Amino acid sequence: MTDGTEHGLIAPHGGKLNTREVFGEEAEALAAQAEELPKRRLNSRELADLEMLANGGFSPLDGFMTSAQYKSVVDTMHLPDGLPWSIPITLGASKEQANRFQGEICLTSDDGTPLAIMTVEEDFDYDKAHEAQNVYRTTEDKHPGVAAVYAQDDILIGGPVQIFRRPENPTFPEYRLDPAQTRAAFVERKWKRVVGFQTRNPVHRAHEYIQKAALEITDGLLLHPLVGDTKADDIPADVRMECYTVLLENYYPKDRVLLSVLPAAMRYAGPREAIFHAIMRKNYGCSHFIVGRDHAGVGNYYGTYDAQLIFDEFDPGALGITPLFFEHTFFCKRCEGMASTKTCPHAPEERIALSGTQVREFLTQGIEPPHEFSRPEVARVLIAAERAKASA
Ligand code: ADX
Repeated sequence: MTDGTEHGLIAPHGGKLNTREVFGEEAEALAAQAEELPKRRLNSRELADLEMLANGGFSPLDGFMTSAQYKSVVDTMHLPDGLPWSIPITLGASKEQANRFQGEICLTSDDGTPLAIMTVEEDFDYDKAHEAQNVYRTTEDKHPGVAAVYAQDDILIGGPVQIFRRPENPTFPEYRLDPAQTRAAFVERKWKRVVGFQTRNPVHRAHEYIQKAALEITDGLLLHPLVGDTKADDIPADVRMECYTVLLENYYPKDRVLLSVLPAAMRYAGPREAIFHAIMRKNYGCSHFIVGRDHAGVGNYYGTYDAQLIFDEFDPGALGITPLFFEHTFFCKRCEGMASTKTCPHAPEERIALSGTQVREFLTQGIEPPHEFSRPEVARVLIAAERAKASA
C-alpha cells in the first residue's frame, strides 16, 4: 500500500510512515524469540501507544523515547533532529526491572500475551515535576495527565519496538483504519485537502458547525474520535460513536466524510496536545486540522485559545499540517444560526451556549437539550445511554 503522496496527499511526519509491525515468518520468528525474553506487561495507555507505533500513527518514532528524545521533546517540543513533537512517549520501569531489562525484552498485553520485542537501548532517570510543568503547564496531580506521569515508574526505558501481534482490540473494528488505510480511502475518493477533526465528547451543534465550515474549503472530512483512555467522567467511546453515526446519517453528505477512530489515549495536555493531535492526523493523511476553543483542555488549566497560540511557536513548514482555528461558537437566536463573535454582533442574551454540566442535567432528567444545542437524534442516543447507565 502506498502513502498516497503521489496522488497529492500530504507526506507523513518525517517523510514516510514508520509502521513498526512485522508479519508472516518474521513475526513468527520474533514471537518464538520473545518467549525466552524478560517480560514487561503494558497498561492500557502503553498499549494504545504500542498500537500507534504499530500502525504508523506515531511516525517517525520507532519506539519508546530514549533520553535524548525525551529531553528534547520535554524542553523544546522538537525531536533531536528538529522535527516538531510535543508529547513524550514513554515506558516506565522499576529499579529491579531496569536492572533486568538489558537488550531485548518482550512487551505483553495486560493478560500476558506477548506482542512485541523492544530493544532497550538505555534506561534513565527523569524529573516528573519538570515534565509536568513543561508539558501540562502545572504540577498539580488533580490534572489527569500529570497524575499519569506521577503514577509512572521512576525510571524510563527507551528503544525501538517490533510488533508481531497487535494489541487485542475488539472495539469498532470497522472504524479502526490505519494511516495507510485512511490514505488509501482519500486517494480512492480523490481527496487531496482533507481536514481532520479530533473529539472526545458527544457531538453538538458547535462541532457540526466548525466541521462543516472547514468542509466548505476542503475536499473531505476525517471525523476522527479518540477512543483510547479518557477520564472516567467522559462519555464512553461506544456512545460517542453512536452519536456520530446518527448525525452522519441525517446531516452529512456521505461522500464527503470518513468516520474512523484514533486508538491513542487522551493526555489532556491542552496546547501541547493540539500539536500532537495535528501531527498524528498528518500521518493519517490530513492536510488540515481543526483547533477550536480549549482544545484537549481539562478544568481551568489552559486559556481558551492557548491551543491555537502554541502553533506560533512552530515553523509551519516543519509541522506540515495546517491548523484551522475556530472561535467559541454558539447558536444566535437573532442570526437564526450558528455563529461566533467573529460573525455575530448580538448580545450574549441572544446566544445559546450551554455548559457541559447544564447538558448533563438535561440528559439525566431525560429531557432533550434545546435543538439549537444538540440535534434531536444525538440527544436521544445520549438520553438512552444515561437511562441504561442509571438502571445498570
Ligand atoms: S477535545 O478534548 O477533543 O478537544 P471536544 O471533543 O469537546 O474536546 O472538542 C473537539 C474539537 O472541537 C476541539 O478542537 C475543540 O476545540 C472544538 N470545540 C468544541 N466545542 C467548541 C465550541 N463551542 N466552539 C468552538 N470550538 C469548539
